[in-house]
Amino acid sequence: MNQYIFDNKSEEREFQRLQLVEAANDPTIRLLEETGIQPGWHCLELGAGAGSMLRWLGNRVGPTGLAVGIDKKTTYLHNDDSPPVQIYQGSFLDVPLEQSFDLLHSRYVFIHNQEERAILRKLCSLLKPGGWAIFEEPDFTSATLPDQGQETPQGRVNRAICQMFINVGLDPAYALRLPHKLQESGFHIVSAQSLMHLCPGNSPMAKVMGESALVLEQEYCKTGLCSPEDIQLYVRLSQDSTHWALYHSTTSVIVRKPPL
Ligand SMILES: C[S@@+](CC[C@H](N)C(=O)[O-])C[C@H]1O[C@@H](n2cnc3c(N)ncnc32)[C@H](O)[C@@H]1O
Repeated sequence: MNQYIFDNKSEEREFQRLQLVEAANDPTIRLLEETGIQPGWHCLELGAGAGSMLRWLGNRVGPTGLAVGIDKKTTYLHNDDSPPVQIYQGSFLDVPLEQSFDLLHSRYVFIHNQEERAILRKLCSLLKPGGWAIFEEPDFTSATLPDQGQETPQGRVNRAICQMFINVGLDPAYALRLPHKLQESGFHIVSAQSLMHLCPGNSPMAKVMGESALVLEQEYCKTGLCSPEDIQLYVRLSQDSTHWALYHSTTSVIVRKPPL
């Protein structure tokens, strides 16, 4: 099992970063609505982070339902652990689960896991026949597209982000492979969409990418593809509301497990 790239960073900063991830991405909650989620459903949020999606699931399924949140680190979820929400700390493959679920959701988790195929297989086995799942993953190579053929500080940082993932055996373009991997794991694809995060500085997405660059500066620079000065400029532009940049894209796939 590989280490999560934000492990060993300041907990307070990671909590704030995770809340920015939520602010930037929670609009896709509308995709969960498409499943027809009902009171009484049993749901699983894998990689619950700072908990916004888990809380949303708990509110929607109500007291007769169940919303299970799993994360390697549940420090940021400690106030959320009351029925119908249950929280498990641990790496997903090591967490024993007896229940089966009507709905699974996971966002920005597979990109961080070398064992993503085993995780997909386990998730599929936990889903009830006919049950729903939504997977949302980023493609960081999209951010390198506008800089093809030119040398810019932001382009260098974007290439360093991709290389950092490759150096630890992860795929920066995981999202591009996601629909095929889901099919291979036995899911039936209902829909797939990709959203390009072309955003102004100071927006939640720009802020989360700027904050990630500050926290991971050493890891980015270790790739040899960008310098601390490039990162300073990248961070400054991420705070400038007149500057627009393509930060990455996110692919969201809605799937169902075939009925028996
Ligand atoms: C980038 S954060 C995203 C958090 C949340 N899903 C969101 O989008 O707001 C990834 C989260 O997944 C968790 N995670 C990554 N791999 C995991 C695994 N194998 N088992 C459990 N949690 C995992 C990390 O600890 C982290 O909290």
